[in-house]
Amino acid sequence: MKTRLFISLLSASAILLGASISFAQHDNAKDAQQAAAKYIGRPNEMAKAPEKYRSKTNPMNSDPTAPVAGKILFKEHCATCHGKDADGTRRGPSMMRDRVQTATPGAIFWVVTNGIVCHGMPVWSKLPEPERWQIVSYIKSLGSSTVAPDPSRPQASIVAPR
Ligand code: HEC
Repeated sequence: MKTRLFISLLSASAILLGASISFAQHDNAKDAQQAAAKYIGRPNEMAKAPEKYRSKTNPMNSDPTAPVAGKILFKEHCATCHGKDADGTRRGPSMMRDRVQTATPGAIFWVVTNGIVCHGMPVWSKLPEPERWQIVSYIKSLGSSTVAPDPSRPQASIVAPR
């Protein structure tokens, strides 16, 4: 009798756990949707980056570990607002949105350095510069267009414009 009670308690808690997991997932999806809507109309701060910054190349470009280090730093400093997968929350926009992915690395670096304080994006100038660039490498690695072509594979031939 006692075992039966134990088993039914166990299954009841399993059901509760399952329900709360699916509720949490639902909440996450809703969160991301609301987040995306919230930041659509905001002015593009990266477009305001001075030319001096916009044209800067990322000094971490030649380091293949930079996006990996950047991901760890992102989780530590940025994920509370931008999401642990950088896909946005109610507190900050997704890093996969077009305006971030089409911005130059230097423009992203500039926004991270100076923040958008009036809209809740903190200043990160205290974070060492190499770490800021590693974060930029990570953000840029999220866009498929930045994936380096595999040199061992034959490349698609370029079609001449007609
Ligand atoms: C306290 C919350 C918060 C934290 C922490 C935070 N951000 Fe932000 N961030 C924001 C908000 C809010 C915006 C949008 C501001 C606006 O709409 O103008 C933003 C905007 C941005 C943008 C411009 C995105 C766009 O679509 O225009 C970038 C890039 C960015 N953050 C990177 C980072 C990085 C990298 C970190 C960590 C080093 C970080 N943020 C930490 C809240 C945060």
